[in-house]
Amino acid sequence: MAVRLGFVGTGGIANRHLTCAQKRDDMEVVATCDVVLDLAQQAADKYVASGGAYDDVVKMLDSEEIDAIVICTPPFAHGDIEEAAAERGVHFFVEKPVAISMQMAGRVLDAVREHGIITQVGYMFRKSEPIIKAQQLLSERAVAMVQAHYYMPGLPNKGWWTKMEMGGGQLVEQATHMLDLGRFLAGDVKSVIGKISTVHDWTPPADYEEPAAGLVEYKEGFEIPDTTALILEYESGAMGTLSCSLVPQVKWDNGFKVVAEGAMVTIDGANAKWTTSEGDFEEQAASDWYDAVLVEFTDAVASGGMTTIPYEEGVKSLAISLAGYESVARGGAPVELAEIMPEGI
Ligand SMILES: NC(=O)c1ccc[n+]([C@@H]2O[C@H](COP(=O)([O-])OP(=O)(O)OC[C@H]3O[C@@H](n4cnc5c(N)ncnc54)[C@H](O)[C@@H]3O)[C@@H](O)[C@H]2O)c1
Repeated sequence: MAVRLGFVGTGGIANRHLTCAQKRDDMEVVATCDVVLDLAQQAADKYVASGGAYDDVVKMLDSEEIDAIVICTPPFAHGDIEEAAAERGVHFFVEKPVAISMQMAGRVLDAVREHGIITQVGYMFRKSEPIIKAQQLLSERAVAMVQAHYYMPGLPNKGWWTKMEMGGGQLVEQATHMLDLGRFLAGDVKSVIGKISTVHDWTPPADYEEPAAGLVEYKEGFEIPDTTALILEYESGAMGTLSCSLVPQVKWDNGFKVVAEGAMVTIDGANAKWTTSEGDFEEQAASDWYDAVLVEFTDAVASGGMTTIPYEEGVKSLAISLAGYESVARGGAPVELAEIMPEGI
């Protein structure tokens, strides 16, 4: 029987997961929910065979027969949604980052543990086959350096992206992908040093015409750093760096260089290359690689099994970004992750 899904937050990324669900026989979209009811209705018209559109997750959960929800809300809009699902024994998939603060993440983690539901976080790069092969190669070697970057040619044009208290800046909202993948490739992080800067003048010039879609070069009310650097100390003794920037330039570029004993790994988006004494190897991800993270979740819900990126993983990865900001607040002093992690992790 198909897993019955409700969607919460039907903006940009929800369409990717809705499209995946629609083309599969083992998933059924039964309802949609967005605080902007029109958006929920548009998604329902396009993707829902029966059931309806809601502007409140509790109403949706109490009106529909739902096995699991797919949460695609911005970083600030978490907590109550996950708790409402957990209390009803409804499993959830949640887009990264899992929360805007450790306090919010800790609250949800308690609810997940108390109700024993199945969870998965949308850190989709972990499910790319070339990256899984690179991880296997690295797991047999001592990793020395994990050098990550996330460079954007501008700012996503969503109001919440420009506010620290809503999106958490690029470090929390987006570069979290790289911090999570760094953990996948090299294990947990022990401490973080962070520095931030704003290099670009984001005030729109009088003659600026905002593009109808896509990234923008200027934005009124821009309040986040546009350039961030972290130094990471891994539990294993490996060192790492993360560089990220939104400063408008010409190329979207995210990836890694990982140096390990006898191997150099390069990750470019979802693709990977590596060089060992046996030669040079290169693998490209399948065109629909990003669907695997949701498929694994619904398989686990259908079978009562496990996922590979449960909520706790999302909390650990969020903690790296927030430790980076805490280090900034302490003038660049190192912050141990153990200082900010919820109990029991
Ligand atoms: N895995 C990825 O590659 C990927 C890509 C893009 C976005 N994301 C993540 O997905 C999340 C959403 O991003 P987006 O680009 O779709 O944002 P968006 O602003 O396009 O959509 C978010 C939607 O959530 C709705 N919403 C806000 N609060 C709500 C609430 N309490 N209940 C119900 N709906 C609510 C908004 O009205 C909006 O329609 C972000 O955390 C982002 O980091 C992940």
